[in-house]
Amino acid sequence: MSMAVETTLILCKPDAVSRGLVGEIVSRLERRGYVIVAMHMMQLDGERARRHYQEHDGKPFFADLVSFITSGPLVALAVEGEGTIEGCRQLIGATDPLRAAPGSVRADFAQTIGRNLVHASDSPASAKRELEIFFKDSDYMSRRHDLERWIKG
Ligand code: RTP
Ligand code: MG
Repeated sequence: MSMAVETTLILCKPDAVSRGLVGEIVSRLERRGYVIVAMHMMQLDGERARRHYQEHDGKPFFADLVSFITSGPLVALAVEGEGTIEGCRQLIGATDPLRAAPGSVRADFAQTIGRNLVHASDSPASAKRELEIFFKDSDYMSRRHDLERWIKG
């Protein structure tokens, strides 16, 4: 069996937590067949937030982004599946909810780019870097059998 099983980082951002949309988002990931292998509710400090969003350091929206992502609790998930990095990006929709595909999380529940509910890693390199910010090795559960049920021929 050869398959490209990937792990990606999903964040239900503070707006998702405060609006009570964590269950909705997690449910969509599970129904798609992605397997949650780690999950943690936490509030980020500025240092960790700047590290997570380091590619945006220097951009005009960076300060607001850090202030928002640290403004309250978020739920971080490590999600496993075949092609899950691209698949989760598709499931959450384009950054600007007005450009997000109908049926995506951002199109269905968000209005503005600065309050778009969810983060998903955008490449294998980003996923690896970002997962290390949120999880340590012992946080991960092995769910190989659950995963195989979804991706076997
Ligand atoms: P994310 O990293 O949160 O999953 O979102 P993304 O990949 O779709 O978008 P990205 O380009 O990485 O931007 C990170 C977050 O910064 C905010 N943003 N604001 N005002 C603006 O022009 C602007 N551009 C980006 C968004 O909240 C975006 O999710
Ligand atoms: Mg991004």
